[in-house]
Amino acid sequence: MFDRLRSYGVVPVVAVDSPDEGLRLCEALIAGGLPVAEITFRTAAAEATIREAAKRFPEMILGAGTILTAEQMRKAVDAGARFAVAPGCNPTTIAAARECAMPFAPGVCTPSDVERAVEMGCSLLKFFPAEAAGGVAMLKALLGPYGHLGISFCPTGGVTTGNLAEYLAIPQVAFVGGTWVAKKELIKAGRWDDIAAVAAAAVAAAKR
Ligand code: 3PG
Repeated sequence: MFDRLRSYGVVPVVAVDSPDEGLRLCEALIAGGLPVAEITFRTAAAEATIREAAKRFPEMILGAGTILTAEQMRKAVDAGARFAVAPGCNPTTIAAARECAMPFAPGVCTPSDVERAVEMGCSLLKFFPAEAAGGVAMLKALLGPYGHLGISFCPTGGVTTGNLAEYLAIPQVAFVGGTWVAKKELIKAGRWDDIAAVAAAAVAAAKR
């Protein structure tokens, strides 16, 4: 699953207030050539949105984001999410992912986080909050002691079309993520064409 995300290089992180809004957003991302979304459990609509979008757009790779509890992990699996992501490194959610056989990227931003995640068997780690934690320089510093372990990272937090290439140039970066592809203001204004254009620009930048 994570290899398929690697082929796009970019995962839009989205928060939607209703399944209808989520379906429109999925259409926009597909139109922009980026049939991928991490739908965050920051809103009550996440579970239903994943369930409906998975049925309506089987070609999309739909994931669940901001998974903070084992219950959310189970809901994400039940709704049809194909991967899950969290901002932090929580043994409870890591164990829940393993029980459900859900591909899961916990969040890390310190050496101790990396060691804890690796010890629990995780091989793809969300580097969050990437820019605030020191960006590319911090990630390269972490790769000093851990680069040989066969782990990959998905930097998220302050990543944009303007800086994603610096991250993707690092061999251990699988893909980048972020909310810039589908900004809340654009979703609320129903500016689907604009979201499709940002998605297309992000994919083009990632390919370059
Ligand atoms: C996330 O949960 O991945 C972050 O909120 C994304 O950070 P960004 O808003 O800076 O892209």
